[in-house]
Amino acid sequence: YVLGVDLGTSAVKVSAMNRAGEIVAQQSFDYPLSQLHPGYSEQNPEDWVSGTTVAIVRLILNDKIKPEEIQGISFSGQMHGLVLLDDNNQVLRPAILWNDTRTTKQREEIEAKLGDRFVEITKNRPLEGFTLPKLLWVKENEPAIWEQAKTFLLPKDYVRYRMTGQLAMDYSDATGTVLLDVKKGDWSKEICDALDIPVELCPPLIQSIDLAGQISKSYALFSGLTTDTKVFGGGADNAAGAVGAGILSPNMVLSSIGTSGVVLKYEDNPDVDYHGVLQFEDHAIPDSYYSMGVTLAAGYSLSWFKRTFAADESFNDMVDSAGESTVGANGLLFAPYIVGERAPYADAEVRGSFIGVDGTHQRHDFVRSVLEGIIFSFKDIMTIYDENHNDFDTVVAIGGGAKNPLWLQIQADIFNKKVVSLENEQGPGMGAAMMAAVGLGWFKDFQEAADKFVHFGKAYMPIPENAERYKQVYKVYKQIYKHTSDMS
Ligand code: XUL
Repeated sequence: YVLGVDLGTSAVKVSAMNRAGEIVAQQSFDYPLSQLHPGYSEQNPEDWVSGTTVAIVRLILNDKIKPEEIQGISFSGQMHGLVLLDDNNQVLRPAILWNDTRTTKQREEIEAKLGDRFVEITKNRPLEGFTLPKLLWVKENEPAIWEQAKTFLLPKDYVRYRMTGQLAMDYSDATGTVLLDVKKGDWSKEICDALDIPVELCPPLIQSIDLAGQISKSYALFSGLTTDTKVFGGGADNAAGAVGAGILSPNMVLSSIGTSGVVLKYEDNPDVDYHGVLQFEDHAIPDSYYSMGVTLAAGYSLSWFKRTFAADESFNDMVDSAGESTVGANGLLFAPYIVGERAPYADAEVRGSFIGVDGTHQRHDFVRSVLEGIIFSFKDIMTIYDENHNDFDTVVAIGGGAKNPLWLQIQADIFNKKVVSLENEQGPGMGAAMMAAVGLGWFKDFQEAADKFVHFGKAYMPIPENAERYKQVYKVYKQIYKHTSDMS
């Protein structure tokens, strides 16, 4: 077996998978999030270690997975979280997570000092959520802790360290620190020097499929694993999610609808320049990359609508009722900026809207306009690919948008591309397991692993007259941001 450890923000989920790509057992464990002040979001790294260990112990004791049959372990990790360690590798303070936004001042300092050069080096803007502004925050606000800091890790790297005793960070997660010179594939001394951060703080870099170490004696005693089990680098959750959805070539784009939504594209050219409008990260596959844009309120828009206007109905019935409306929701348009937006507009202040409300509209028109509005916001991200002549032909839909045939067809029609769902959608834990499987040499590369692990379901093709209608509606949708962004 291989274990895929999916270290999330609310829980860790550990999946045991066999060589046939089947999940044989799964265990998860929740941990708390601490929000001491508005904008703060922290976790205790020890909770990740104990949660992961409990899940592994349960796989061994409850699901009867024999420790000696676990050949490899790898990870998918929540990105960007700062874990600071002293020279005994002891944790110095609670981890500051990806969704912590206390660092606007530090973001502005980085922009003022490095300007466009920052995007040139890191291929990203220094957003509040990323790791570098968090390092600067500790340096400015907690000097006594900063003085003791010897190195830093990201969340899943800390769990890996506790399993193996080896400090390392993989490239896919390292890009999310925005301290990496993406084209050079190494830490950026220029950025460290400009911001007075010792480059020695940055940990050794490895690939996602590299062997990081074996299970240490102490962790073997703690968990019941054996010291023969090999532990591999693993990757950022978005990279692992992409691997688990088969996003392994430049013609593939992921459309993922969770609370927030992600459009993610495999990239093979680090010279493509999205000017920091999209995030650009190293993929889990050596010498490849992915770009991504986030719609802050994707599934959240629909659950808000349901809670507010359709509390009496089941989720499925509500979504199905959109079928009683028409392509373009009888002229009703929804812009899903109800908690602000991240891409393509980085605008925390903008708010959502319904445009074109008519006296004849019924609730099903509103439902349909919400489904369509979320997809139009994804289309806004995909349009950036068109503008860069960066073509693709297949969209893999996962999450809420993949659960309903009508919503899948709406995606095919609005994107004007083939849209496929997955038969065995498992999320990033599957990508993590695939990293261990490739690392162990079970497969020669991710493509061969995907042939076993990833099964595409039905393909939805665009219906030409719908696609044409949506092309017209999209022109109107595009104007909404311009006309509403200064109203809030
Ligand atoms: C990506 C991001 C989130 C976290 C969630 O930049 O902040 O997707 O990785 O775990």
